[in-house]
Amino acid sequence: MTVPQAQDGAPRPLAVVVLAAGQGTRMRSATPKVLHQISGRTLIGHVLTTARELSPEHVVVVVRHERDAVVAAVTDAMPGLTVVDQDEIPGTGRAVELAVAALPGGFDGDVAVLSGDVPLLDPATVGALLAQHRASSAAATLLTAALADATGYGRVVRGGDGLVDRIVEQADATPEERLIGEANSGTYVFAASALRTALPRIGSSNAQGERYLTDVVSILRAEGLPVAATVVDDPMTVAGVNDRVQLAEAERVLNARIVRAHQLAGVTVRDPQTTWIDVDVTIGRDSELLPGTQLRGATTIGEHAVVGPNTRLTDCEVGDLAVVSRSEATLAVIGTSASVGPFAYLRPGTVLGAAGKIGTFVETKNTVIGKGSKVPHLSYVGDAEIGEGTNLGASTITANYDGVRKHRTRIGSRVHTGVHNSLVAPVEIGDDATIGAGAVVRKDVPPGALAISVAPQRNVEDWAQRAAERTEPGA
Ligand code: UD1
Ligand code: MG
Repeated sequence: MTVPQAQDGAPRPLAVVVLAAGQGTRMRSATPKVLHQISGRTLIGHVLTTARELSPEHVVVVVRHERDAVVAAVTDAMPGLTVVDQDEIPGTGRAVELAVAALPGGFDGDVAVLSGDVPLLDPATVGALLAQHRASSAAATLLTAALADATGYGRVVRGGDGLVDRIVEQADATPEERLIGEANSGTYVFAASALRTALPRIGSSNAQGERYLTDVVSILRAEGLPVAATVVDDPMTVAGVNDRVQLAEAERVLNARIVRAHQLAGVTVRDPQTTWIDVDVTIGRDSELLPGTQLRGATTIGEHAVVGPNTRLTDCEVGDLAVVSRSEATLAVIGTSASVGPFAYLRPGTVLGAAGKIGTFVETKNTVIGKGSKVPHLSYVGDAEIGEGTNLGASTITANYDGVRKHRTRIGSRVHTGVHNSLVAPVEIGDDATIGAGAVVRKDVPPGALAISVAPQRNVEDWAQRAAERTEPGA
């Protein structure tokens, strides 16, 4: 067996195999483990993102448990990857054997093996592993971690030459081997030719009766081929997620990385501990996040904006200089210099124009609010269009639902509604119109008109005095 070397300095082609056939029993979940999310992306989505950064020729994902759900998610994350179904023969060795069989017969490059449940593995770490592998003549290069307590992991047994002799699994290790602190991370690069030769030789006479991928190491060494290992700087990088405690821990670590990257790019984050930012969020320079802010999904924030405290924005677009305080918004657009909250609820389809305002205890849905228009207090505005420079009085409500259908409310520019108005849709209020306090608007209001619908006020003189006389004791 020989290991092919790079020719003319060009790197050998790369195939990435992602193992995702396992059940993930310890999650105690109806959702397959690799489809649980941290920082807005599935565990396996993180692994595939890392894989993509390595510019591989082939990506193969091995599935079995809940295969349809996993296949749907991975092909969505990376169209064009190869899915391989593992058969009933258990073990990581069997999984890789089937994956390698799915590669083109002539593939003679390197095979990187990653686990679908190791989400913090970053492209730089795998890239360095790959570079080390390519620069050496090793048939395999492993990523390992130095742990204070390596219980549960396969242990790396090194020979006197510093090279790796074999890996022994927890269940098969002697008491002395269990004292070894160097753990196999489950991340490897193999020369394809060496891997192809070794895989069929893996047996299953071990404590778990499985075909261990880790046995490839001793098989290669028996052939006289060197196996190298590199120790990862931060063990969290290779931490696997097996239960919900580890899921939360992984998200905390990833979030800290994300927050730090935004800070270094010019965003003020007052309390990194309570600020949660998904991987795809973008934030402009000199924006400020106050404690308890969650930025989810594909949210984008402009420059010099202030968000928080205690605000959750999901798939929102926030303009430069906008202020969003103590609010919840989903699929909403908040314009430049606009102001939202405190205590506003922006539902999908809300578009707030530049310098506009959605104020305190206001709910909006499917509503476009023009430049400089304000909905300052205690309102529900749904299925509406509002022009520019309009002000809705406190507690103006769109009655958009007749019990069967939703209807639209059209409000022009420079309109002033009164406090406590009901706008019964479908209805249209023309530019420059004014509406009296307490009005229930059922008919269109022409431009420039005043609409009043409340009965004229009548005062009953001495009402209090007469009421007292009527209720006099003994009367
Ligand atoms: C494996 C390694 C161990 C290492 C540890 C790191 C083996 C034999 N042991 O152990 O040395 O320290 O990872 O986390 O490889 N999978 C399949 N098909 C299978 C079995 C597993 O696709 O038949 C997938 C799982 O979904 C998972 C990955 O392979 O993504 C690792 O499998 P797991 O059972 O968690 O291996 P460990 O016992 O943790
Ligand atoms: Mg595991």
